[in-house]
Amino acid sequence: MRIDIMTLFPDSMRAVLGESIIGRAAKKGVIDIHCTQIRDYTDNKQMQVDDYPYGGGWGCVMMAQPLKACLDDVMQKAGPRNSRVIYMSPQGKPFTQAEARRLVADYDHLVLVCGHYEGIDERFIEECVDEELSIGDYVLTGGELAAMVVTDCVCRMVPGVLSDPECYTGESHWNGLLEYPQYTRPETWQGRTVPEILRGGDHAKIEHWRRKQQLERTRLKRPDLFAQFRPDETDEALLAELEKERSRMKLTKPVTCRGAVPEDLPVIMELLAEARKRLAKARVDVWQGPYPGEETFREDIAQGNCYVLLYENEIAGAFSLVGPGEVYHDEDLTDGKWHGGAPYVVLRRNMVGGKFVGSGMADYEMRFAEEVAKSRGADSIRLLTHKKNLPMKQLLSRHGYRFAGNVEVEIQPGRMGARQAFEKELK
Ligand code: ADE
Repeated sequence: MRIDIMTLFPDSMRAVLGESIIGRAAKKGVIDIHCTQIRDYTDNKQMQVDDYPYGGGWGCVMMAQPLKACLDDVMQKAGPRNSRVIYMSPQGKPFTQAEARRLVADYDHLVLVCGHYEGIDERFIEECVDEELSIGDYVLTGGELAAMVVTDCVCRMVPGVLSDPECYTGESHWNGLLEYPQYTRPETWQGRTVPEILRGGDHAKIEHWRRKQQLERTRLKRPDLFAQFRPDETDEALLAELEKERSRMKLTKPVTCRGAVPEDLPVIMELLAEARKRLAKARVDVWQGPYPGEETFREDIAQGNCYVLLYENEIAGAFSLVGPGEVYHDEDLTDGKWHGGAPYVVLRRNMVGGKFVGSGMADYEMRFAEEVAKSRGADSIRLLTHKKNLPMKQLLSRHGYRFAGNVEVEIQPGRMGARQAFEKELK
């Protein structure tokens, strides 16, 4: 595979592409990468490659002439090949692993054209470009980073670049699924041990486990990819196993919410004990000391700040909502800034009963908290959580909370702890 990159920054591109696996493959001669300076082909004395846009507007447009002269020279040097001229552009087709596979399979020469400024003269695209590729829905200052992404991704699939095709056929995106989790030595790190199955040496069991992990991870992390994935019979069986494992409580009846009363305290304390255990198991250093205790909830209840969720008359969750009133100040954040307006309320001590974990009860809790916040006239909700409290952070992200900054809080008298601050604007 030969790759020609047409750019205004050939030295920087060479420096990056000359390193590591791609650099070594180029030295071995498995791939052939050339970076060519477009400016060397301009026919004007000032070596100008861009000019003002017709019709006015911001910035400059790259002229067709140097681009065409550069391309002609590149093509001539490459000789007769199965070539494809690709313009790196935010307007292009999204670049994916499947697109990379197509390029490797169908061509042995790619010319990647990097634009700069406000783009390139449309007539060059019409005249010379076979396709446009984008590496994502955002705009870069030039096509160089995008060309490096395409070069790296394409080259690692060229035979001989990686030691074994399995290096890429098993990984994320190859077959529409994300890769399974990987571990290396030591066996136990920071109290976290490598899953037993991977240490057992039973290859069939390991395969089975890894495929299930791929399916589950894709479902959770990339629902968009999972929706497109077409499972075969074996995958269907694995998905059924996963579904069974997940067959936690399914909420089929209405969930309601009311202010907590002192008689609810014993159940609230049970919820707290369960939540404490879950946090300890996940190694999240939250609620691992005496706080919050019965007294905290008694006070919340007395002040009308504690709420319980009911499912078929059973208390399934509880949360406290404080405010509006000054609770967190801007200066509390060690970095970042609260964006949401005052008046705001603070959501605290939200928890669900063990059997409701994964049932969607926590989502009900967030929605009820929002309703109460609005009924109190709040413009935003603020809260703190621990950076390792991933289920909570996923919940926050699902409900549109944004990260505001970091904060140090006194978690017990004399003991400080780091927390992350989140907020949701209600307007
Ligand atoms: N040039 C500028 N932005 C780009 C993007 N997102 N993808 C490819 N080329 C680009």
